[in-house]
Amino acid sequence: MVHTVGEVVTTTAVQSVPGVSSDGAGHARRALELVARMTLGEKIGQMSQVNIGADHVPADLRGAIAAGRVGSVLNAVGVDLVNELQCLAVEESRLGIPLLIGRDVIHGFKTVFPIPLGQAASWNPERVREGARVAAAEAASVGVNWTFAPMMDISRDPRWGRIAESLGEDPYLSSRLAAAMVRGFQGDNLAARGTIAACAKHFAGYGASEAGRDYNTTNVSENEMRNVYLPPFKAAIDAGVASLMASFSDLDGVPATANEWLMKRVLRDEWGFAGLLVSDWESISELMVHGLTANHRQSALAAARAGIDMEMASTTYRDHLEGLVGDGHIAEAELDVMVANILRVKFALGLFERPYTDAAEHAALANPDHLRAAKDAALESLVLLKNDDQVLPLDAHRARSLAVIGPLADAPFDQLGTWVFDGDPKLSITPLDALRETLGEAVTIHFAGALATSRSRDRQGFDEALAAARRADAVLLFLGEESVLSGEAHSRADIRLPGAQEALIEAVAALGKPTVLIVLAGRPLALGNVVDDVASILYAWHPGTMGGPAIAEVLLGRASPSGKLPVTLPRQVGQVPIYYNHKNTGRPATPESFVHIDDLPASAPQLSTGNTSFHLDAGYTPLFAFGHGLGYGEFSYQRIRVSDRRITLGSSFAIEAELTNVGIREAVEVAQLYIRDLVADVTRPVRELKGFQRVRLKPGETARVSFRLGTEELAFYNRRMRSVVEPGRFQAWIGGSSEAALMAEFEVVGG
Ligand code: GLC
Repeated sequence: MVHTVGEVVTTTAVQSVPGVSSDGAGHARRALELVARMTLGEKIGQMSQVNIGADHVPADLRGAIAAGRVGSVLNAVGVDLVNELQCLAVEESRLGIPLLIGRDVIHGFKTVFPIPLGQAASWNPERVREGARVAAAEAASVGVNWTFAPMMDISRDPRWGRIAESLGEDPYLSSRLAAAMVRGFQGDNLAARGTIAACAKHFAGYGASEAGRDYNTTNVSENEMRNVYLPPFKAAIDAGVASLMASFSDLDGVPATANEWLMKRVLRDEWGFAGLLVSDWESISELMVHGLTANHRQSALAAARAGIDMEMASTTYRDHLEGLVGDGHIAEAELDVMVANILRVKFALGLFERPYTDAAEHAALANPDHLRAAKDAALESLVLLKNDDQVLPLDAHRARSLAVIGPLADAPFDQLGTWVFDGDPKLSITPLDALRETLGEAVTIHFAGALATSRSRDRQGFDEALAAARRADAVLLFLGEESVLSGEAHSRADIRLPGAQEALIEAVAALGKPTVLIVLAGRPLALGNVVDDVASILYAWHPGTMGGPAIAEVLLGRASPSGKLPVTLPRQVGQVPIYYNHKNTGRPATPESFVHIDDLPASAPQLSTGNTSFHLDAGYTPLFAFGHGLGYGEFSYQRIRVSDRRITLGSSFAIEAELTNVGIREAVEVAQLYIRDLVADVTRPVRELKGFQRVRLKPGETARVSFRLGTEELAFYNRRMRSVVEPGRFQAWIGGSSEAALMAEFEVVGG
């Protein structure tokens, strides 16, 4: 550890072999011994992953596997096909090296959990780990041994379709949850039955795609990469993730797939990552499309030099690496290192000892335990954004009839969300199903879809919907996005409720009935136009197979919502990017300095506004802040204190407060700790999440919430790209969102 005067330089743990299993050294030795026996052609074979179309196996694939020219297959569906291909690799090829069987198991396999952004709203690492464990158990039962998850791209732009797959906008929350997912997929020992290799993706900075348009350019300073985008990947590696996937994106002019700073300097040299690095789908061949290379031979060389161990889907390695080695452009010894990275994962998975899958040895798909886990995850993902007049929970005695309206009330496919290759809509229980099942004859339900799809502009269903609303004591509007409007390659420039949904809300609101909006979507939507038209808003994301029962339990008060936003909800898209951990700027807006566009007098002079950072027509605050979420309890924070006003560098300290449920119902609160480093070598965010914990309290009950930190958790990367903790003044908040008001100050002093 190098102590620089006035700062403590924190070092990152260097890993010789990934913690993918208990016997990392043994796997490393076996891998080296095997590489020594391989021909160049077999080595290049291990570096090639071949995609299998849903309905056909490429004609030459079986022969290539038998010849030892394939290291992995992607999208082989069905345990019989997987075992057949494994048999060709193990029994037919010269060295009998088993295949990695890759599949996107992003938020469930047959039992679909909420989309990762929804799971992140639980702020519950244990819940997230359990979801990944179930997903791995189901995927492993059909022969999958490698998933391309968790995705941990920090996402501050809800226009970007892939925000659905992310764990939100915050490095700390994303780090905690990414590590939990890795542990869920991989278990304590990758060789154990029911575990699969995880893959941290997309390395790195993909979430900064300009304009939120997928695959677009990213320009991110090194300092921002190190302080914002890289930490979740480091957390996944510290959790033992077996692999990483390169991002498609062009990072500051050098696409990640060929970016030696990312893939060599940071990932291998600084972090000591010894796992498998795979390209994204054809991202090596796309280096030519980016304009970084003139042909696929140059693409293969650029990616190999960056240390991409395995090529997904495209064939530049297969077509050109042998020639590149022969011409001396890359040494075979460099390939040996890359092949060893691949083989270590195969040894860690126990594939050489147990290459085949017997479904009978695994739990049944979508069994009751798995469905219960999915329901519990959906329950904790639900975020109650507003609840005027305590319209929720619905009192089944008060409300004798309900209008259930909207295209997402009974949408078994869409509630699953994006990336559900193996999900089954027939297993989905929709909100309408669940409400009918739960309420039975006690409450009359008038259902009207109102719109054919979330995008529909055809209002011919409005009359039926309004008639249903008129007959009801309360109205439940299930609106949002079809699943196809989110996910990869599905970015939107206008992130309001699509189609005629806003008009539907307006028409229903005019009836004056207690109205609840339940949003099923794959991204934060801009609800600024409709937020005042409804009494309550429950954000359900795309909640998965068991979304219906979870939503019904919360609506009917059988469970209190406890979700908190993992991402900021803007008033309108023009505010994007808008996120809580922003810099202060030299002219931060305040309520006093903000002037609304409608309040500007005619012929107002240029200097009539406060010359601070806001939009005349949107202000400077979000509609709902990161960390926000209501429950059926009411929580009050008081008496914050720091264990010591002056804290010595290198020591630990506590920040705590009292939390009381001053409401009338038992509920869970996610108490959050934020800090601010007031003066530093580079400007620091106005708030940074540094801790959270779930606290269940009965009415009137008080708990002391305590967060213990070491000063190293105040570290950041400075101008010289060194991770440092500097002495100086800090502020700390504890509360129920990033807008927490209860604050204390402390000072870190030199060692
Ligand atoms: C996709 C995605 C990546 C996914 C891979 C395999 O294009 O970018 O996240 O894992 O291809 O399907």
